[in-house]
This record gives sequence, C-alpha cells and structure tokens, in this order.
Amino acid sequence: MKTAEIRSKFLNFFQSKDHTIVKSSSLVPANDPTLLFTNSGMVQFKDVFTGKDSRPYSRATTAQRSLRAGGKHNDLENVGYTARHHTFFEMLGNFSFGDYFKENAIKYAWELLTTVYNLPKEKLWVTVYFEDDEAYNIWKDQIGVPAERIIRIGDNKGARYASDNFWQMADTGPCGPCSEIFYDHGPDVWGGPPGSPEEDGDRYIEIWNLVFMQFDRDKDGVLHPLPRPCVDTGMGLERIAAVLQHVHSNYEIDLFQKLIQAAARETNTTDLANNSLKVIADHIRACSFMIVDGVIPGNEGRGYVLRRIIRRALRHGYQLGQTKPFFHKLVTDLVGQMGDAYPELVEQQERVAAVLKLEEERFQATLEKGMKILEENLEGLKKGGVLDGKTAFTLYDTYGFPFDLTADICRERGVEVDEKGFEVAMQHQRDTARASGKFKTSQNLSYSGQNTDFQGYVTLETEAKILAIYQDGTSVQEAAEGTDVVVVLDQTPFYAESGGQVGDAGALTGFGNAVDVYDTQKITANVFGHYGTVSLGQIKVGDAVQAHVNVQRRVSITRNHSATHLMHKALRQVLGSHVQQKGSLVDAEKTRFDFSHDAPVTQAQIAEVEAIVNAEILANTEVHAQMMGFDEAVAGGAMALFGEKYGDEVRVLDIGFSRELCGGVHVKRTGDIGLFKIVSEGGIASGIRRVEAVTGQNALAWLHGLNDSVVQAAALLKSSPANLLDRTKAMQEQVSQLEKELAHTKEKLAGAMATELVAQAQDINGTKVLVAEVKDADTKFLRDMVPQLKDKLQSGVVVLASVAEGKVSIAVGVTADKTASVKAGELVGVLSEKVGGKGGGRPDMAMGGGTNPAALAAALAEVPAWVQAKL
Ligand code: ALA
Repeated sequence: MKTAEIRSKFLNFFQSKDHTIVKSSSLVPANDPTLLFTNSGMVQFKDVFTGKDSRPYSRATTAQRSLRAGGKHNDLENVGYTARHHTFFEMLGNFSFGDYFKENAIKYAWELLTTVYNLPKEKLWVTVYFEDDEAYNIWKDQIGVPAERIIRIGDNKGARYASDNFWQMADTGPCGPCSEIFYDHGPDVWGGPPGSPEEDGDRYIEIWNLVFMQFDRDKDGVLHPLPRPCVDTGMGLERIAAVLQHVHSNYEIDLFQKLIQAAARETNTTDLANNSLKVIADHIRACSFMIVDGVIPGNEGRGYVLRRIIRRALRHGYQLGQTKPFFHKLVTDLVGQMGDAYPELVEQQERVAAVLKLEEERFQATLEKGMKILEENLEGLKKGGVLDGKTAFTLYDTYGFPFDLTADICRERGVEVDEKGFEVAMQHQRDTARASGKFKTSQNLSYSGQNTDFQGYVTLETEAKILAIYQDGTSVQEAAEGTDVVVVLDQTPFYAESGGQVGDAGALTGFGNAVDVYDTQKITANVFGHYGTVSLGQIKVGDAVQAHVNVQRRVSITRNHSATHLMHKALRQVLGSHVQQKGSLVDAEKTRFDFSHDAPVTQAQIAEVEAIVNAEILANTEVHAQMMGFDEAVAGGAMALFGEKYGDEVRVLDIGFSRELCGGVHVKRTGDIGLFKIVSEGGIASGIRRVEAVTGQNALAWLHGLNDSVVQAAALLKSSPANLLDRTKAMQEQVSQLEKELAHTKEKLAGAMATELVAQAQDINGTKVLVAEVKDADTKFLRDMVPQLKDKLQSGVVVLASVAEGKVSIAVGVTADKTASVKAGELVGVLSEKVGGKGGGRPDMAMGGGTNPAALAAALAEVPAWVQAKL
C-alpha cells in the first residue's frame, strides 16, 4: 500500500466514524512563542483540550506535518544513523473533545489496523498504563487480545506518572494514561517486547499511541480530573508505511525511495544505500515545509534551525562529491511525492527552491574551505580523540558551520568535540564585541538604590527626587553647570529606551538649577538613567526637581509606535501570517519595521496596508492597555514575539484591530495618529524586508514635499499637476520617436559617407584599396562601417582609422576573395605597432589602435605599398 493511500485511508476511515477531517496546521505554531515547532497532531488542538478554545466539531482527524529538530524534541543528530528517526514526519491522529473515550478509541484503532490495513492480529502487541484496568479490560475482553500480549507499564522513569505510558503535553496541563500498539517484525529481527530488557531492539516497534486525556496537572503536580475527558492519538505515517510495505527501515518506503533516488541523481551517486542520501531525503522534506510555513534561514530561533538543517544536507552532498548547488533541485521531486496531500507545497514550490538555492550559494563558498580546515585538524586525531573547541568555534564563526554540523562530522570519525571549549570561545567573542562596541547604556554604572517608579503611562510631568548622579561613569554627589551627567530619580515620566522605542528627552528643573535631558536609558531593568547636561546652576543628590518630558517629541513617538502595531497587523493581513517582526525602531521622526517576507512588497500591497491602517485611524477607537497573565494574553490572541522574554504578567495593548504585548507608550485613541504613510520599502537581508513609515505632522510634511516636487515638475514641463502623467507619457513617446528618427538619420549619413569613401579607393593591380581617416568617429562606428564598405568595393581592402581623445582606432577589412593573400589581422598588427599599440583579428576583419596619433598619417600612407607587396 502506497504512503499516499495509507494517509487517505486513515482520514477516510475516521471520517466514516463522524470525524471532521481538519487540515494540517503550520509547522510554526500559531501564536505560541513557547513552542519552536509543531511536534505532534495535538498542538493545534491544545487549547481545545484545556477548554480555552472550542470548535464546531467534537471529533477530528488529521495528517499533521510535524518537526522534531530543535527545542525539547530534537532528532536531528540521529537522522541518517537509525532506521526510524526523522526531522520531519507526518503524524496521523484522531481526536475526541469530550466525545468518545477509551472504549471507542481502542475499538477504532483495532478496526483500522486489522480490517482496513489488514494487519495480522497475532502480530500486534499493546501496552497500557499499569493502573489503567479499564483500558486493560477493553483490550482483553472486548477486543480479545490474549493477556500475554497486553503489557502493563509502570512509572519506570523514576517518579510518579513518569512513564512511557503516561503522556503529558507539558509540565502542566492536560495529561493522561496512554496505550500503545506495537508491531512484531518477527523473530528474524533482534529485540524484545515492550518492558523487557531487549525492548530497544528493532523487533517490536511502536506504531500508534492512544492518549486518554483525563487530568489537568497543576503546577504543584496535582492531577485534577478534566470535566470532559478527551482522546489524542498519534501514528507516525512513515512507520506504519514501513510495516504495510514489509520493510524494516522507514527509508525503504515508496516515498523515501523516490527521494533517495532523486538525491542520488543530483549527487551522481550510484550506491543507493549510502546514509548521506537518507539524510538529504529527510532534510529536503523538513526544509521545504519550514519554508512553506514562513521560516527563512537566519541566525536565530526557527531560522537558525532551518539553516542548520540545510547546511547539514549540503555537507552530506559534499561528502558524496557534489560541490555545486543541488539541494533545491529536489523540491520538484518532493512535490511529486507530497504535492497531492499538501497543495501549499505545490503553490510555493518555486519560492521554496529559490530560498534554498540562495542559501546553498551562500554556504558553498565557505563549505570547501571549512571542510579542509576540519579535515586537517581531524587528521592528527585518533578515534576517541577530542577536537578542540576553538577550532569548532572558528568553523562556526568564519565558515558558518553550526556546532552540530562539526559534531556530526566528528561523530562519523569517532571523535568528540569539546563543547565547553566552544562555549568559552563564543563567550569570549561576545565579551570582546561588547567591550569594543559603543553602548549608550552605561551597564557599568554601579547603582544599588531603589528602583525608578515609572509614571510615564499616565503623565508627562512629575515631581521627583535625585537619587544618584554620575559623571564620566562614576557616582558623584553633585555636578556643576556645563557638565554631562546621568541622573537617577525616584520617579519619572521619562520612558527609557526598550522594545524598539527610543528614550524620552526633556528637562529636569529645580530651584535655580536645571538639566537638559537628551536621552533616557535603562541602567538596570528597573532603574532609568536620564542622560543630559546641567544647563543651570548645580545639582545635588537629594534635590527635588520637576521632571518634564518634551511633549512634542513624545507625542510624535507615541503616534509612530501605535502606528507600528496597526501596520504589523495590516502587513500580516495583506502579505500573510508568515510576516513576523524581526526588529523595530520607533522614534519621533518615523517607525522602522523589519519583518520576514521574501519578496518585495508591491506598490499595490503598500497601498492596501496604508488603507487598512488609515481606516483604523479614522475609526478613532480608544486604546486599551491591561496587565494579565502571559498564557491568558496569548490565548486571547495577543501577538507575542518568538524569542522575546516575557514575564508571567504582561501588558496587553489593544489598538484598533491589533492586540500585542508591549511595554511602550501609545496614543489614547487611534485618531491621534492623524495620518499614516509608508515612505520606503526594501530588503535588508535574505528574506527580511524593511519598511519605514511616518505619521501625524511628519506624514503631512512628507506629502507636502511630494506635492512640491509634483508642482515644480509640472511647471518645468509646462503642464499642471493634474495633467502631469499624460504630459510625461506624451513626452516619453516623443523622445522615443526622436530617437528612432535620429538612428535613421545616422544610418543615412553613414550610407552617404560610405559612397563618398568608396569613390576615394585606389586600384592596385585590380584590387581596390581604400584608406581613410574618419573624423569624430568611435571604434564602434569604424567596426560597423567596414562591412558596408567591403560590400560596396566587392573586392578589396578597407583601412579606416580615427583619433579620439589622444587614441588611435584602426579597423581593417578584406573581402573574402582576397584574404588568401592579404590578411586583415596582419595588416592591422603592422599599423597598430606604428602608432604605438597592438591589434589583431580574423583575416577578413580585424581591429587595433595605439596611443601615438602623430604617427598615423605616415602609417596609413604605407598601406598601398604593403598591400601591393602581398598581392
Ligand atoms: N500526542 C501523542 C504523541 O505525540 C499522541 O505521542
């Protein structure tokens, strides 16, 4: 049975049992910054189990694309070394949300395996959680599995509920006992039944896990019964395919065989059993689907996992002798195998191949050099030796070898890598970078007093007390007029730079003293430093001051910040949910926003984003900020950024249609933004775009500037702004018409000149010889003229020369009937030498020249005699 058929039979079977077929969700979990990748079928239903979310159905079935390559579940290192590990795999599952429970879950599984997939009953073994008599009895009495093939598995991992047969989603949340179904590959294969000392062998292979979600585990480890017990099952498609296709390794199933053949074709490999082919076949699936789901190779988070997998595949290609980009060519083969089940792969195949190709080209340049260095270092090491961390770091830092790639290569040679040494080298580099970088934030200011109480969400002016003053990085008690200082206050309305928003500026004014503040930066997470200059009198620790934020500047910043949230949401609507924030800078002038997207944003898309944002502004809705638990915020749809650290309590900002976690300062109503205009768009790195936008007065000023240009351009063209476009089009047409006419005239002129020149040709023993110096002609003109003149002469020799900017150009042509005696290449060589240069070419046409125009006339005068001697 083909893999595709196994997949569809599974889904159809459960559909016939009233399950709704639900599409596989993305490999990037929606709105779950805590999870790197979707690693099983239940991820998209996580909130349905806990009751936070509901669906219109209570039974569902999926074939879920899953990835275990990074984060808690990571099988990357094992791929290529075992028969059953993959980075990417498909999990077939059926789910009940408070509908059926153990009895039906077991009955359905048994029916599918024995009547649809027709597996022999005597080859199936099952396990149950040791306390789960209910499941045990269903298997024994209702299904009829003999007692000796039902194995109870206890808490065999050292703690209560720590068991292969007790499944939990995470440390807290829904969990419950599970029952696993095993297939016996027969006595020819080594291994023992589950729970036996030989269970790790390949004979008894787990094919299906039925989880009976029964409890909700709280953070103290106490289990509370769920009001509606649920079912979550998972069967690896590749494993069941191996069983049904009577092969032992997942890599021998039809789908993988096709991919392995394709990998062999692209790497010119004849040995189909080579492990590197398996690695490549596995990795093309993982990489392609990650890209389909919006991941772009990068240096952090999901992007780095993708980069690591691609580079690992390329290295295996290199090992097979393929040093040119090849990996992206496998996308077509993958589409052939999986396109029917995943239309999104078909739609995006060109983009996927393009992203892979770019990454291949990027790595190719350094792969060879890096491999050489590694080989040299490995040469001196024996099996069991250790590669030093510094070399591993150089490979990483200079040649782009992810650590696990180096480790992978070492593992093949039986060598270990000094991971600690690698970390040390990495830390050393970070420290050096920090020391040499210019940081505005004085992380080194030593401060141990109370935290700054931030008042800036509600007010722009407060009374405050000076708690500390720093001058040149050291703590002082007082500072005189004209000195640069950093001031810490007990409370402040000044926002300290964070989350992409710049720090506030303003003034601190006291009784006869003042500080001009130009920036505010965090000294520690909760202590703000006001950077400024004492502009009046002197300040002392303990002084009472009034802290005023520069209102104009702050208002502009808030407009830009709130507009950023709206724009982020609009970009996701217009371009797709793969758009993720990669960086932002919000200041008083603009908002600069970097995000993942791998094509230029078109004018039409920009206009659409602007329309959406401006509609939200015009709706003039009130902006709300509230504190809530992180889980609650994410469940409520708040956009959290992957890789950002959030505390348990987060600030949730509702601005128009957007909801984001954010600590920044914002407008009161969307209408305060006034006007929104995107002013630039471009790429800053592979797969990362940057837009800049302006709001409020700045947007108006930008539009005024544009308007001025249009008005001036219209005046220059003697038109009006309204007619500018038509006028420009008309002028363009006029210009191209004139260009055509000019070309035509030039042609005519050349023709006339040719006739004139031909008349000057002299006859030497029946051979016409034309020698002429042409005024104001460039090399191209000479080259074009020679064939025309040859045609007109019909039989003879043409020598044209010209002088421009102190340089001589010479073109020589000989008609075909004369090339036996007179060779153009030879003649031009002789002439060029005389004018201080070189020349050469074919016997019928040759070009040359030199740098001595003074010698040209004499050189040309000798041509007739030279030709005569040859004839
Ligand atoms: N969620 C269960 C698993 O991953 C089915 O094994």
